[in-house]
Amino acid sequence: MLVTLDTSPTIVASTLDAAMEILKTHDRVLSRRHIFVCFRIKEMNKNSVVWDDCTDNWKLLRRIARTEIFGPRMLQIQEPVRETKVGELVEFLRGRERKVVKLRLKRKCVDRVDRVNQLWESTVRERRLSRSISKGESKDMLDVLLDNGFSDIQINVLFLDTFGPGSETSSSTIEWAMTELIKNPAKLAKLKEELNQVIGPTSPVKEARLPNLPYLQACIKQTMRLHPAAPFLLPHRAIEACQLMGYTIPKNYKIIVNAYAIGRDPKIWTPDPSSFRPERFLETNLDYNGNHFEFNTFGSGRRICIGISLANRAIPLIETSLSSLK
Ligand code: HEM
Repeated sequence: MLVTLDTSPTIVASTLDAAMEILKTHDRVLSRRHIFVCFRIKEMNKNSVVWDDCTDNWKLLRRIARTEIFGPRMLQIQEPVRETKVGELVEFLRGRERKVVKLRLKRKCVDRVDRVNQLWESTVRERRLSRSISKGESKDMLDVLLDNGFSDIQINVLFLDTFGPGSETSSSTIEWAMTELIKNPAKLAKLKEELNQVIGPTSPVKEARLPNLPYLQACIKQTMRLHPAAPFLLPHRAIEACQLMGYTIPKNYKIIVNAYAIGRDPKIWTPDPSSFRPERFLETNLDYNGNHFEFNTFGSGRRICIGISLANRAIPLIETSLSSLK
């Protein structure tokens, strides 16, 4: 479908076949980003994984992200930090039983880029200094960036690239999962039973146990299908003209993949595509690693989300901990 959004002609793909054509067959030609006006800051875009074209620098950033920042070794090192933070969240919530809790305090932070950068300016400065004195093993994302010789502006952009797309998407997925489970008490009871059997009623949740929780994984996948955190993925743009399903897509046209519509398509998700039925995912081996275009929460192809491995650990950990609250 062709629509005009603001002043840009935009192709919207709302079927499985069209999504495959865009994200697989014509992946390279349609991999440029359409950059929203508010994000058009030249110095930042050319250092950004999210907004830059697929240049050699972008490939390097993605490689560092995949192998080092979100690679298995770093995720393992950071595991105790995530477990401690989620434990603190659970304790915080326990202390506020029957009180209204504002969980979205951080939202205002993204108002102004420079104000956000100031949040970590002193940390970056101190870490640079301490690493020049004693060079230790890389323990977090900042160490990895400093090891790779990143400048302050590159670090700022990479931090924004990950905190922006990483936090809002994860928190909205968790909120929707809790909402669906509260609306469907039988599913919540089934999940609690699994948690009781595998983790026990009181033990703190450990990430190592998460692969033994198939019903939890199915609940999260079902939430992502119904409520994708990026319902239109991120907008792509045509580097050059190409033929798509018999139509000519002119150069520079904006391309949107409607993951929301595909996730509720009655031709794919029968019966009752809008219902929260985690069992669907127990019956199939559909995953969100970019191989199944009917379930496209994280995108696919060269622009696929770089944070899948982190989301894959953090979301189930938080979800398990919240679901086990009385
Ligand atoms: C539920 C959690 C998440 C969802 C649903 C999600 C979804 C997405 C989607 C749909 C895209 C665009 C794919 C495309 O354009 O084809 C994307 C890109 C991206 N995501 Fe995520 N994401 C999540 C978590 C994260 C996390 C935890 C991080 C990092 C900490 C992250 C960092 C990024 C970055 C940097 C990109 C841009 C990749 C590129 O353009 O090359 N995301 N994500």
